[in-house]
Amino acid sequence: LANGLGTTPPMGWNSWNHFSCQINEKIIRETADALVATGLSKLGYTYVNIDDCWAELNRDDKGNLVAKNSTFPSGIKALADYVHSKGLKLGIYSDAGYFTCSKQMPGSLGHEFQDAKTFASWGIDYLKYDNCNNDGSKPTVRYPIMTRALMMAGRAIFLSLCEWGDMHPALWGAKVGNSWRTTNDINDSWESMISRADMNEVYADYARPGGGWNDPDMLEVGNGGMTNNEYIVHFSLWALSKAPLLLGCDVRNMTKETMEIVANKEVIAVNQDSLGVQGKKVRMEGDIEIWAGPLSGYRVAVVLLNRGPLRYAITADWDDIGIPPKSVVEARDLWEHKTLKRHFMNKLTATVDPHACKMYVLKSVV
Ligand code: GLA
Repeated sequence: LANGLGTTPPMGWNSWNHFSCQINEKIIRETADALVATGLSKLGYTYVNIDDCWAELNRDDKGNLVAKNSTFPSGIKALADYVHSKGLKLGIYSDAGYFTCSKQMPGSLGHEFQDAKTFASWGIDYLKYDNCNNDGSKPTVRYPIMTRALMMAGRAIFLSLCEWGDMHPALWGAKVGNSWRTTNDINDSWESMISRADMNEVYADYARPGGGWNDPDMLEVGNGGMTNNEYIVHFSLWALSKAPLLLGCDVRNMTKETMEIVANKEVIAVNQDSLGVQGKKVRMEGDIEIWAGPLSGYRVAVVLLNRGPLRYAITADWDDIGIPPKSVVEARDLWEHKTLKRHFMNKLTATVDPHACKMYVLKSVV
């Protein structure tokens, strides 16, 4: 969407994966504090996004959305001011239907222009726009109304389409939003995570800077349902896939292991690379997969992925990953934070544990 936003995939936090509907203004403020205190905001995690359940079930007598008095007594404008004072941005959630998915608050269908104005007046920077409880009309009819409403509201607001991929939003999303969900909801398990990476990969060619990003749903890293290696796979694939990096854990209480994953500057740099080309699966052999994508400066990012229960030696061939044959290549291991001593010709092989990956940036050294 040509609103000047999303030149690289958005980074930040969203309340849903960890807190579901149990949110309040204190959690949001403390999360903003934690993003700054941990240094994550400096690494690019700047959106603080409130998901479902922030509003009263009934609009006011003028038809305006109202923040839930019991949980957001200071109102959203005050929260936006607070978040902005920390150098961060505030995101909010609505739905292209009559009610949101929780059914605990109204949606914006039929109120798009009024709600967009409200969001702009509060200082909102990001809108996640869901698809529950709609009137049965096509999302290609309902979503562009909110796009127009936001464009006319006088504030640049990142628009995240949450249509779950049913109507292939990658095919029409670039004119409507800054990102679009390609999958139904993730949960905190290996199966759920890896299958969302697969579903999202199919649409790789539609992602681009200034157009929009495929969104395989938000991160579960740190929520406790996967092993550390599985979370490393999760973060590596999301980064290579140029997916939004929206943390979904309680950032006020992160373990050292979680922090080491989400604060990996080198992996974040792959996600935020200026070329903005989504990586793809370039080879699959049983449980073994090679994912790769080009980076700026004629570099290539590659993930050697082991989806199975056994240990494997995995080989990336230059042919598969888009490096000219016979190139002599230097490899940077993004999880070991080491540039490998030897150079590589034609291929690179590494041993990879079950449900784990290796991630490299490769550069020709002529
Ligand atoms: C849908 C979305 C989720 C979340 C919930 C909130 O399921 O896909 O990401 O926003 O609604 O109810």
